[in-house]
Amino acid sequence: MREAFIDKHLAVTIRDTEIPVPEAGQVLIRVVVSGSNPKDWKMALSWPPDGALFNQGDDIAGYIEAVGDGVLGFHKGDKVAAFHQVMKPHGSWAEYAIAPSVSTFHIPEKTSFEEASTIPLAAMTAAVGMFQRSNLPLPWNPTSEPLPYVIYGGATAVGAFAIKFAQLSNIHPLIVVAGRGSAFVETLIDRKKGDTIIDYRQDDDIIREKIKAAAGGRPIHHAVDAVSEKDSWLNIGPVMTAPGQLTLMMPGIDYQPEGISVTHAVVGYIHFPPSSGKTIEDAEFAAAFYQLMGRGLAQGWFSGHPYEVRPGGLAGLQGAMLDLQAGKASAVKYVVRIGETDGVEQ
Ligand SMILES: NC(=O)c1ccc[n+]([C@@H]2O[C@H](COP(=O)([O-])OP(=O)(O)OC[C@H]3O[C@@H](n4cnc5c(N)ncnc54)[C@H](OP(=O)(O)O)[C@@H]3O)[C@@H](O)[C@H]2O)c1
Repeated sequence: MREAFIDKHLAVTIRDTEIPVPEAGQVLIRVVVSGSNPKDWKMALSWPPDGALFNQGDDIAGYIEAVGDGVLGFHKGDKVAAFHQVMKPHGSWAEYAIAPSVSTFHIPEKTSFEEASTIPLAAMTAAVGMFQRSNLPLPWNPTSEPLPYVIYGGATAVGAFAIKFAQLSNIHPLIVVAGRGSAFVETLIDRKKGDTIIDYRQDDDIIREKIKAAAGGRPIHHAVDAVSEKDSWLNIGPVMTAPGQLTLMMPGIDYQPEGISVTHAVVGYIHFPPSSGKTIEDAEFAAAFYQLMGRGLAQGWFSGHPYEVRPGGLAGLQGAMLDLQAGKASAVKYVVRIGETDGVEQ
């Protein structure tokens, strides 16, 4: 099969490799569309440690080809989306990819592979951050009280999914920080419930004042930083009131505003084995929540992120990585159709 690998200089190479075999609990998926994430280029700089070429793709949309021992509920030919296990071989930048069955979900006929491929990594990051780290009300138990929630980076894929989940949980007012993608964010928020957008392309002092004003005199106890780059969190801590919950997207950020519990939504943790302790909770949460997303697609109350198909199949990943690194993506996921790759017949 054809498979794409990236090196630490972000050069993408396409090679012929063997089709992998799923182990117990895994599924083999014939990939129709692969998504991409900022993580792909960020991690390529340091993973794997020996600098070997690596298939960094994690977002899979395609058809089940085979299932490993013990896998229930999936059969050859099922239309699915899945989250590949980060840092493991056989990612989504290939004709066939491996995913844990617990992070695989059925997608309805009406949902395109392109749309589906935008969902697994980013949407689960938003969900883990909101419901596992910040203990916000779950969609099947929506709040009836005002609950100001800052979503810093509402046009990021993670931020946009956070807005969608917040709507399901009736969390308002949403105080959403966005720039170029504000028109898109406008389609997701509910101004009648007090939601608002604040442009990040102004002085930090003004951003903070506007965030506070948008809360309408209520304290802000909850926030997510769906950017987590270039000190974005420094505009969030000062507007929050203790006791608070601030979720960052990147591990290793050392930030501790007084009275605010700072947590990190690292989506890869959903695949850690139970022996690692607390993460069993994320694993079970994710298994359940992926099924919820599939149901939402089928019933029409959940949707993917806007996408741009990068031409050339796997060869299109090179430009996608460079554009992601350069910060060009605005309210969009870059996806590739595997069937457009030279030498692939689907
Ligand atoms: N740890 C994890 O497991 C994990 C998982 C997923 C993502 N992440 C991280 O979370 C972040 C978001 O990922 P993503 O895939 O959602 O990104 P993305 O969709 O590629 O992000 C692009 C968006 O970033 C927005 N942006 C850039 N600078 C901003 C700023 N200063 N304030 C507000 N918005 C800003 C832009 O908004 P405008 O268009 O409005 O200008 C653009 O739409 C990245 O840092 C990523 O590495 C971590």
